Parts: sequence; C-alpha cells; structure tokens
Amino acid sequence: MAQCFNIIGIAVVLFVINNDFIRPLSAADTKPVNISSLTLNTGKKIPSIGYGTSGVNGLEAALNSALEAGYRYIDTSTYYRNEKVMGNVIKKWITEGKLRREDLFLLTKLPFFGNRPEGVPKYLKQSLENLQTDYVDLYLIHSPAGLKENDGGLDSTTDIVAIWKEMEKQMDAGLTKAIGLSNFNKTQIERILKNSRIKPSSLQVELHAYLQQNELVDFCKENNILVTAYAPLGSRSMTAYNANRGNNVTLPDVLENPIVKRIAAKHSKTAAQVVLRFDIQRGVIPIPRSYNTERIRQNIDIFDFELDDKDIEELKSLDAGIRFFKFSEMAKHPEYPFRGEVQK
Ligand SMILES: NC(=O)c1ccc[n+]([C@@H]2O[C@H](COP(=O)([O-])OP(=O)(O)OC[C@H]3O[C@@H](n4cnc5c(N)ncnc54)[C@H](OP(=O)(O)O)[C@@H]3O)[C@@H](O)[C@H]2O)c1
Ligand SMILES: *[C@@H]1O[C@H](CO)[C@@H](O)[C@H](O)[C@H]1NC(C)=O
Ligand SMILES: *[C@@H]1O[C@H](CO)[C@@H](O)[C@H](O)[C@H]1NC(C)=O
Ligand SMILES: *[C@@H]1O[C@H](CO)[C@@H](O)[C@H](O)[C@H]1NC(C)=O
Repeated sequence: MAQCFNIIGIAVVLFVINNDFIRPLSAADTKPVNISSLTLNTGKKIPSIGYGTSGVNGLEAALNSALEAGYRYIDTSTYYRNEKVMGNVIKKWITEGKLRREDLFLLTKLPFFGNRPEGVPKYLKQSLENLQTDYVDLYLIHSPAGLKENDGGLDSTTDIVAIWKEMEKQMDAGLTKAIGLSNFNKTQIERILKNSRIKPSSLQVELHAYLQQNELVDFCKENNILVTAYAPLGSRSMTAYNANRGNNVTLPDVLENPIVKRIAAKHSKTAAQVVLRFDIQRGVIPIPRSYNTERIRQNIDIFDFELDDKDIEELKSLDAGIRFFKFSEMAKHPEYPFRGEVQK
C-alpha cells in the first residue's frame, strides 16, 4: 500500500485546480499536499510522482512552480545540462527555510558519454557539485549503451557489470542513497541482478498508455525494483522535436485518445490526470514534464479520484507497443536494449 509522503514542517501548497479558476500563489493560501509514497528496496521512501526536467528552457521558474505545487521528487541527468540551475533553485529554497534537503528526492544519471567504470565517480562528483548537495537519493545508469567521452561516437566496449560495481561503491561512500538503471531491457537487468552485491532499486523506462511495458513491470515487481515511467504523457513534444530535426513523423497523441478523453470527462479530470493516475494505481511512478505552471499543478493533482475496474480495463486495451524513444543512433552498439523488438 502506498503510504503518506511526509513533508513535515513545510508550508507546501497544493492548489485546488478547477477548469476555470486557478488560485494565485500566496503564502497565506497554503494547503499541505499529501503525495503518497512507495518504499524502495533500501527501505527509503520515494514519492509516487516526480517532476521531469529534460529540455532546459525556463527551468528556474518552472522548478519553483513545481516545488510550490508540492513535487519533491526531481528527475534530472548530467545529459540535460540543467543541474546548475536546479542546484541554485534548491539552495535558495533551503536557505530561505522553505525546504530541508531530506524532504527532497533528487535523482540524476550517469551520462551516455561517461558510461565506463571510471566515469561513475567522475560524473557523480560533478553532479553533486552542480546540485550543491552531498548526496543524491537515486543515481541511475542512463543507458546500457555507451558513447566515447570526446567525439560522441559509439563506445562498443561498454561493460555494464563493471559499471555497476562502481555504482555500488558510490552507495557505500554515501554519495547516493540508492542506485538503479534506465533504458535497460530484461536480459540486461538479469545480468546485473546475477552479478551484484547491491540490487538495483529502480528502473526508469519509457512507459505510457501506448507502451505499457507489462512484462517488464511484472519482472521488476518480482525483483523488488520500482518502475519509473518516463514520457508518461506520451512525450507530446516529440513530434515538434522530430520536425525540427527534419524528421517529419506524426506520433499518435496519448492525450487526444478518445477513450482517455471519455474517462477524463467521466471523472471531471483531464486526459493527463487520467493517464498519470493509471500509473499510480499500477504502482508505477510517473515523472511528467511541463514548463507551464497550470499544467505542473494539474499533473500532481491526481490524489483525489480513483479509476474504477472498467476504466482500468479500457486503458489497458490501449497498449500498442509504440516506442517514441528508440535511441536509433545507438542501434549498432552491442548493448543496444531494443534490438530484439519488432519496430512499429
Ligand atoms: N531516462 C531517459 O532516457 C529519459 C528519456 C526521456 C525522458 N526522461 C524523463 O522523463 C521526463 C518526462 O518525459 P518527456 O518530457 O519526454 O514527456 P512527457 O512528460 O510525457 O510529456 C511532456 C510534454 O507534455 C506536455 N504536457 C505536460 N503536462 C501536460 C498536461 N497536463 N496536458 C497537456 N500537455 C501536457 C508538455 O508541454 P508543456 O511544457 O507545454 O506543458 C510537454 O510537451 C523528462 O522530462 C525526463 O526527466 C527520461
Ligand atoms: C494530509 O494528511 C494529514 C495527516 O494525515 C491530514 O491531517 C491532512 O488533513 C491531509 N491534508 C489533505 C489536504 O488531505
Ligand atoms: C511534413 O508533413 C506535413 C503534414 O503532413 C506536410 O505538409 C509537409 O510537406 C511535410 N514536410 C516535409 C519536409 O516532408
Ligand atoms: C536486450 O539487450 C541485448 C543487449 O545486451 C540485446 O542483444 C537484446 O536483443 C535485447 N533484447 C530485446 C528483447 O530487445
């Protein structure tokens, strides 16, 4: 069962959202948020929803909005190049007495171009400096496939077990409270499980209504690994992102799906709230990204309704194996995780 994520002693705010009126931010107008939490295999708690931050534009204002709305789990990566801004915002909140470090759950990742044993202490140290903190709550290997440090070409020598042993040492040293994986497939996770002293606490993968990852989620549950869903809204900005790079594909939009929209109308919630609530009820942690204050608040306002069995069955039926993040540039790497997949 999900438990209450405790935010003792802080006047944090969850603004009640309705469709036509958003209450303004004001210190007097505060209401504590009760975000549920899950427990990692380390015994430590993790909030059941996080805030995704890839794409740097306007992060300072957006992160302030996210903290004001009640997000405490913040997802970043060396690769997003936004840790410095993040560190400054967090420091300000702590200095002003609005937040304690222990109330936050900070996650960052080892970059593709640092994916070798000696890269682990090097890039974790850099992240800690940028974030202005002594430890992160979870450190992930961003990808099983690695790139060369300098020219960004494929580094075919990536040894995920050797990298994991260095991840364990960072945990021993207290520089991270838990360690985990991102974009690894089942076979690769099995290899880590067989060759590790400390088991992975979490797996972060693409997961949304069109890519529900049932087999992987079940496998992780059996092995006490919590699953985090990236692109939980179906990463709507990917169509524009691709178009900017001359890749003119139109991706199906999860939030425009008629079934999702009908369930949303039934609960007087938005399509985004329905798909995020679906994750919560599956025990999967979504990390939606938004730079819009209203949508940031909307995405966390999902603890006051429940999808019923019929809703769940209908949402399950949308699973279509559609992967938006294929990392095609890594396809020739020996550890490319999606090689065995039939592409849709
Ligand atoms: N481990 C990995 O390899 C990996 C890969 C990809 C992503 N991630 C992580 O996962 C996070 C989330 O993934 P993502 O950013 O790709 O996709 P996402 O969260 O599924 O979707 C973000 C898009 O949805 C829009 N949006 C947000 N809330 C909305 C709402 N309530 N209604 C309608 N539209 C809404 C956002 O636009 P607005 O900003 O305009 O609201 C943005 O365009 C990332 O930020 C990153 O932290 C990790
Ligand atoms: C949050 O939980 C506390 C303690 O369980 C409770 O007193 C409070 O009313 C809850 N707040 C909301 C907004 O549900
Ligand atoms: C991209 O797709 C749009 C809509 O289908 C089309 O109008 C446009 O010509 C296409 N552009 C390219 C460069 O293919
Ligand atoms: C899992 O990753 C390995 C690389 O370690 C790859 O060869 C295999 O095809 C992948 N499995 C699937 C189902 O894609």
